[in-house]
Amino acid sequence: MTRELARKYGTWQRIEILSDVAIIGIPFDRTPEELRPFAEDLLRTLRLRSVWGRYRGVDEVSRVGKYVHLAGERVSEVIYKEHGFEFVLDFTKVFFSQKLMFEHDRLSRLVREGEVVINMFAGFGPLSIMSCKRGNPRVVYSIDINPFAYYYNLVNVDLNRAYCVIPMWRDAFEVINELPEADRIFAPLPELADKAYEIAIRRLKPGGTLHLFAQVEVKKGEDPVKVAMSKYRGAFFVRVVRSYKPGVYHVIVDIKAD
Ligand SMILES: C[S@@+](CC[C@H](N)C(=O)[O-])C[C@H]1O[C@@H](n2cnc3c(N)ncnc32)[C@H](O)[C@@H]1O
Repeated sequence: MTRELARKYGTWQRIEILSDVAIIGIPFDRTPEELRPFAEDLLRTLRLRSVWGRYRGVDEVSRVGKYVHLAGERVSEVIYKEHGFEFVLDFTKVFFSQKLMFEHDRLSRLVREGEVVINMFAGFGPLSIMSCKRGNPRVVYSIDINPFAYYYNLVNVDLNRAYCVIPMWRDAFEVINELPEADRIFAPLPELADKAYEIAIRRLKPGGTLHLFAQVEVKKGEDPVKVAMSKYRGAFFVRVVRSYKPGVYHVIVDIKAD
């Protein structure tokens, strides 16, 4: 249905539906005004409450996308479902991407009973909360510098009854030194991977694991897995998430502390 409508208006089909709200990726050659008739039609046809457009790019610190309201009510707070969990979030105020769904599932299943876990860049809390519910760790320190991420993290802890998660509104690079040594650290911010590696590796217990989201640059013919393995001391597993731009890959590097 959405594809047919997109074709009718000659636009592309990148449309996300969250609860009763749709988000259309704004093509670089279109203005929001040009997309409004499409948005109105989408609203009526799918009986939605609201339709938004999303520009390319994100805020440098909070990683929040840039949006413009196109049709219906001006609501941007939604319920987002992932792997049987429900999360409340306002996508105009916190980082949100369905592309991390697989990683949330994979990483949260690695958490073990009694662990001390630190999530340095927790956003609205999906990975922290899934880790808490699935692995039964002692505690998950769930840090974010964006106050709205902290707010939704608190709300989502309660919604999912994930009370081993402690949301913290702080700069992870500062607060991590005040926390106990961890069995496991998540660092899901590829843009600051090298800085996160330096600080996180020192906050792990011996034998503890760092899951570092990183971006690696490769020359023609080079394997991103090999490049990432040799870049970070202690690396024992690399998963390639996606090709980010020519010659640059997003990867997750699993690293053991000495
Ligand atoms: C890529 S998003 C995290 C995604 C989140 N883990 C998820 O799965 O949805 C990166 C997050 O890091 C936060 N952030 C950026 N710099 C930070 C810092 N110095 N300390 C703590 N959080 C920071 C941003 O506010 C943003 O929510």
